[in-house]
Order: sequence, then C-alpha cells, then structure tokens
Amino acid sequence: MAAAKTLLAAKGVAKTFRLGKVEVPALRGVDLTVAAGEVALLMGPSGSGKTTLLSILGCILSPSAGNVAVLGRDTAGLPEGELAKVRLAHFGFIFQGYNLFPTLTAEENVRVALDLRGVKGGDAVERSRQALDAVGLGDKYRMLPRDLSGGQKQRVAIARALVAEPDILLADEPTAALDSETGKAVIAILRELAVTHGRSVVIVTHDPRIAAFADRVIRIEDGRIVGQGQEVS
Ligand SMILES: Nc1ncnc2c1ncn2[C@@H]1O[C@H](COP(=O)(O)OP(=O)(O)OP(=O)(O)O)[C@@H](O)[C@H]1O
Ligand SMILES: [Mg+2]
Repeated sequence: MAAAKTLLAAKGVAKTFRLGKVEVPALRGVDLTVAAGEVALLMGPSGSGKTTLLSILGCILSPSAGNVAVLGRDTAGLPEGELAKVRLAHFGFIFQGYNLFPTLTAEENVRVALDLRGVKGGDAVERSRQALDAVGLGDKYRMLPRDLSGGQKQRVAIARALVAEPDILLADEPTAALDSETGKAVIAILRELAVTHGRSVVIVTHDPRIAAFADRVIRIEDGRIVGQGQEVS
C-alpha cells in the first residue's frame, strides 16, 4: 500500500513567549507529520504547549524557530497576507468556547465561513444547511446560539469548520463541554471526515475516551513530544 500523503509537517518547531523580561518557552523543538486520512490526538498536561502547537500548525501563530509545511509548502517567513490565504485555503478550526456570533442564526454562523471564501447567495445557504444536517442540526437552522445547548453550539462550530471542506481540521478540546454521548458523536463526525474524505484531523483533548477514535495519540510534555502511539496511559 502506498504511504498516505503528508498534509501537515512540523520540523524543529519552537516557540518562546516574551512577557516583559521573562521568557516562557512553550515549545522546544517539535517534529510532527500528519497524513491524509489520519486522526491524531494531542494530549498532555495543562500548559504543556498543546494550544500553542495547534495554533502554529494552523498558521495562526508564527514559530520562534522551525517550519510548518502545509500540503508540502513551507510557511516559514511568509507574510501575514499569505498565511491568511493558506489558512482559508486549507484549514478548518474548532476552538474552545465555540466563537459563535450571538446575533446570527446557526445557519448564518456556518455561512460566515463560506462568505470569507467568496461563496455567497443560494449556493452558500444550501451548503450551510447541508453542513448543519450532517451534524444532526437539520431542524435548527434558524436558532440563535443562546437557544442552543452546549453540544448543539459545538456542532454548529463543527459545521462551520467543515462547510468549506478543509484539507486539515484542527480542534482544541472540541468535546470539553459535552456529555460523553454527544462527545463521541462529535468525534465520530470528525473521524468520518478524515477516513471518507482523506483529510487530516488534529484534536487537542484531555479526554482519554476519545483515544479509541484516533489513529495516533501524540503526548506532549513541557513543550516536547514525549511519545506517540496507540495506547493511552
Ligand atoms: N500568548 C502567550 N503569552 C505568554 N505565554 C503564553 C501565551 N500563550 C501560551 N503561553 C504559555 O505557553 C505555555 C503553553 O501554553 P498552551 O496554551 O499552549 O498550553 P496547553 O497545553 O494548551 O494548556 P491547557 O491544557 O491548559 O489548554 C504555558 O506556559 C503558557 O503560559
Ligand atoms: Mg490549551
């Protein structure tokens, strides 16, 4: 069997935050590749650098050293305008706290992702509704975030991340606010995306129950990868 294509590759990625005179090393040399069709989990203690790594993988944050290649293209040194294009072209993001617009309906919140990419009108409405159908919210198009449960809001955020069919989906604690059944359903949706559509999915989680859905668990401690494998301890 041919090796799956590498969609995301980090090499020697380091990040040091500066707070006045204090330097906070958040990442200390991370090498990581994620293949098409793969679901990788990032696990590790609070403060170990998971969100920092996810942000750098997604070209939201620049590394202090090292490089991230997206579909084979190096991003080190690209100006912000180019990085924004890379993000729009290849990434979907699910962050902690949903980040939904409170005055927009579920459908409009999803449609924002298409609007940003120049997809408008009836086509955008249709695709947004399909994305909401896919996460089981086919009857909630017109609801405002305040009238949705935590799990439903999270699914709107997932629909928004998926609607533009990103090559790479990055999710930070997507199940943190969900009960275990809803959490499993959410992860199953993300797994389906990877397996059926050959995308890469990277999920930051503290939840060991999710490990069963992953191809690989990457353990990070103190800004370094300390283990990769199937087993979760
Ligand atoms: N913008 C920032 N400025 C300064 N320090 C930061 C910044 N962002 C993160 N850090 C520091 O970098 C380290 C890694 O933070 P990060 O948010 O990546 O951890 P995490 O593994 O996601 O933790 P958690 O599980 O609590 O979300 C921490 O020491 C944190 O305080
Ligand atoms: Mg974090």
